[in-house]
Amino acid sequence: MQVALKIWRFDAEKGERALREYEIDAPEEATLLDCLDIVKDRLDGTLAYRKSCRMMICGSCGMRMDGAAVLACQVRMHDVAQAGHVPVISAMGNLPIVKDLVVDMAPFWGKIRAVTPWLEPGFSDPGEQEHVVSQPQMNAIHKESLCIMCGCCVSECNSMEADPDFLGPAALAKGMRFVGDARDQATVERLQAYSEPHGIWDCTRCYFCNERCPKGVDPRDAIAKLGAEAMKEGIDSDMGAKHAKWFVTSAKTTGWLRETELVPKTQGIVKSLKEVKFAMGLLRHGKVPPPFPPHVAEHVGEARALYDLVQHEGEDGYDGIVQLEHALGRLEHEDGHGEAAERGPYGEGSFPKPYLPGEESSDGGGSE
Ligand code: SF4
Ligand code: SF4
Ligand code: FES
Repeated sequence: MQVALKIWRFDAEKGERALREYEIDAPEEATLLDCLDIVKDRLDGTLAYRKSCRMMICGSCGMRMDGAAVLACQVRMHDVAQAGHVPVISAMGNLPIVKDLVVDMAPFWGKIRAVTPWLEPGFSDPGEQEHVVSQPQMNAIHKESLCIMCGCCVSECNSMEADPDFLGPAALAKGMRFVGDARDQATVERLQAYSEPHGIWDCTRCYFCNERCPKGVDPRDAIAKLGAEAMKEGIDSDMGAKHAKWFVTSAKTTGWLRETELVPKTQGIVKSLKEVKFAMGLLRHGKVPPPFPPHVAEHVGEARALYDLVQHEGEDGYDGIVQLEHALGRLEHEDGHGEAAERGPYGEGSFPKPYLPGEESSDGGGSE
């Protein structure tokens, strides 16, 4: 099959960036990585990219295709070529480019190191203290254990783009892998460290990390588990934690989110005084309901019963989120015609797709 690719080349020494187009003849089963190998072998030996396993194990070949992070060895090019689409290939985002498609992973590894990515069992000599981990205990951190450190989630993280010091999805998922480990004895210390500024509460919940992770780690869900676990341990001084707590209190007491009280409950009375003028404007234009008397939903009892159930079942902390994941995993995703839709990483129902056949744009649609 004939495959055309546009590749962003980057020469770090000269600081020059250029979009080059290549056309190759490739076998029908070729992946994006195979196509890059052919370009390098036959057309341009100076093209730089990383690879090792060629089978989605090592995490080396992360890059962007049409602006979305992918593992190059995962993406089959047949449908892309058949659609006549010319994808734009570029280096991953949020990491400095060294050359062409190769990024400097040092900032990535720095964040991983910062979460103490090893077991703290509370003793130095294992001796007789074997700790058998049960299957349900293992299930709680199964997804987080699948990470191959490719960086695709970091590439797409909106919070990291705004704040390069944000710990980020991969490191926090790794943190959850140890917080949830039944053998680890440093849970509280870990949760305190991860709750500092640039930690779990700085995630914007955009879910792009879940969308782009090629291994189903779902880092955003791991961050949610850390948040729930931190609150369970009473580590809630961050504004994000206060915000989440107020959501629960408000839903439990009235069945609604009482937005007018959200700012003082989250930021404190003194800081929220600065927002009074803005709040009055919202009130005048009917954008928020008057704070008093609080509006109580007719069926508020249902919200209270739900809260009591969670407390009674002991499903606060990450247990509750694991349960929710299991429940969602059993739901069928329908395609709008009553048919269960495939929900593979690039199959029907998947979003966003790495390319949009038939929607060509002048630069291939990729964001750089
Ligand atoms: S959900 Fe949070 S961690 Fe994930 S990409 Fe968005 S901001 Fe980053
Ligand atoms: S969480 Fe997923 S996307 Fe992020 S580094 Fe691990 S495997 Fe890659
Ligand atoms: S080359 Fe190892 S994951 Fe792609």
